[in-house]
Amino acid sequence: MKIDGKRILVGVTGGVAAYKTLDVIRCLTREGASCQVVMTRSAAMLIRPESFEAITGRRAAVDLWESDRDFRPAEAFGDAAKPIHIDLAQKADLFLITPATANVIAKMAAGIADDLLTTAYLAADCPVLAAPAMNCFMWEHPTVKRNAERIAADGVRIIPPGTGDLACGYSGPGRVAEPAEQVEAVIETLSGADSNDLAGRRLVVTAGRTEEPIDPVRVLTNRSSGRMGVAIARAARRRGADVTLVAGALSVEPPGGVDVVEARTVEAMASAVRSAAKGCDVLIMAAAVGDFRPKKTSAKKRKREGDFILELEPTEDILRSVGENRQSIGVLVGFALETENLEQNGRRKL
Ligand SMILES: Cc1cc2nc3c(=O)[nH]c(=O)nc-3n(C[C@H](O)[C@H](O)[C@H](O)COP(=O)(O)O)c2cc1C
Repeated sequence: MKIDGKRILVGVTGGVAAYKTLDVIRCLTREGASCQVVMTRSAAMLIRPESFEAITGRRAAVDLWESDRDFRPAEAFGDAAKPIHIDLAQKADLFLITPATANVIAKMAAGIADDLLTTAYLAADCPVLAAPAMNCFMWEHPTVKRNAERIAADGVRIIPPGTGDLACGYSGPGRVAEPAEQVEAVIETLSGADSNDLAGRRLVVTAGRTEEPIDPVRVLTNRSSGRMGVAIARAARRRGADVTLVAGALSVEPPGGVDVVEARTVEAMASAVRSAAKGCDVLIMAAAVGDFRPKKTSAKKRKREGDFILELEPTEDILRSVGENRQSIGVLVGFALETENLEQNGRRKL
């Protein structure tokens, strides 16, 4: 296994998603890693250290001064002769902070080390990953954005939060990344997948679903989340490629560091792809492009008065038209979604 025997210091801060860290640790342990938890006092108000101790088999370190005076890092993977914050940090192969509160991100950005977790952060010279989680207004606050950008520039890999219903009752960006995504980021970091082998290459990736307006409020669309195209764009970016993401409607956040061109309708997507793909090395068309659109779009919201027959017309087959004029594109990748005769239909499209 890629992370077999690796020592992961898991930092837990005072976010409501702290309970999800149990799952992250379970998955990391399943991959063969050994986990040691360091928590803030706020985190310990939300979830008891004993919960982590039960699944790691090690005491969760909380405090620099008081309750952990009798904590000896030798119980974990350390050297009892060194101060706990130095020892925990220096012996770790990777430090994953999950969930990362707005507060801890600010402290990391400023170099404030007033508790065990933040002191260990400054003492760590291993890769550091942070999975922010907070209310959407907090995540979008300019101060938080600035601090997150700051720590990313300092080399911390941010595992971006997802969008959806939040514990506070609001809906928006701020949900901690899924445990599987966090584990994937850890594995990638530890296995050195963050190489630069695509440096100098230009990739264009399409992702998400198209939306064709029926009237000013309704659209004809499909159930694509955009997750796959976004994952491809993120992986290419991490490998050093210069990436343009042509995005329809997405249910996931686009990755940082890529140029995002929004294109909601098939027509907009076709024109965005044509201009972005000129001379690119690779074009990967993972977007779910609608095959039909309403023949007419009503300028006013249609009332619920009697039957409504919506006349549709076919949209442009972007993959086909780009494929027929692909001289300037190195590699072209398309996808086929079928409900029957999968291979046969896929081959016909190819
Ligand atoms: C119930 C509850 C849930 C909270 N959830 C979050 C959260 O998800 N994200 C966040 O940034 N702060 C959250 N906070 C606020 C933090 O706990 C607070 O800013 C604290 O000072 C963070 O300390 P720490 O970063 O040292 O753990 C929450 C507070 C409470 C009482």
